[in-house]
Amino acid sequence: MTDLQKSPADAAQTPSGDPFLSVRDLRIHFDTDDGLVRSVDGVSFDLHKGRTLGIVGESGSGKSVTSLGIMGLHRSKRARISGEIRLNGEDLIAAGPDRVRQLRGRDMAMIFQDPLTAMHPYYTVGQQIVEAYR
Ligand SMILES: Nc1ncnc2c1ncn2[C@@H]1O[C@H](COP(=O)(O)OP(=O)(O)OP(=O)(O)O)[C@@H](O)[C@H]1O
Ligand SMILES: [Mg+2]
Repeated sequence: MTDLQKSPADAAQTPSGDPFLSVRDLRIHFDTDDGLVRSVDGVSFDLHKGRTLGIVGESGSGKSVTSLGIMGLHRSKRARISGEIRLNGEDLIAAGPDRVRQLRGRDMAMIFQDPLTAMHPYYTVGQQIVEAYR
């Protein structure tokens, strides 16, 4: 039986154990010249290993800002991030940028919105440059 065929009660039985990614009450606000923009305002979800999670919402609803926040890619001083992002139990908001950089590409990766202009996150940049020469 696929997940789609399960009844809502079955589907609610998520895998046991701790989630691989846990997001709790995530808020990502930006200070702008026009005032505070609340792009993400209290988002929570869990993702277990081997499972897929789709986030659906209208344009501008904060899907990309959420994903970039998890990846630690909001580098602007104007971004204010609060809440909890745990990867394998590790608090990514408390972890410094050096630690998050270690995890990027190893434990987490992002395919950006325009995938044809981006590098594939599973392969090193070097492998992808060599591939073109070959
Ligand atoms: N650096 C920033 N400073 C201020 N506002 C921002 C910044 N980045 C994003 N926003 C705003 O946050 C909101 C959410 O944007 P986001 O790109 O996450 O939407 P989205 O759900 O990914 O939309 P789409 O489906 O079009 O990709 C938008 O109103 C956007 O203008
Ligand atoms: Mg987007």
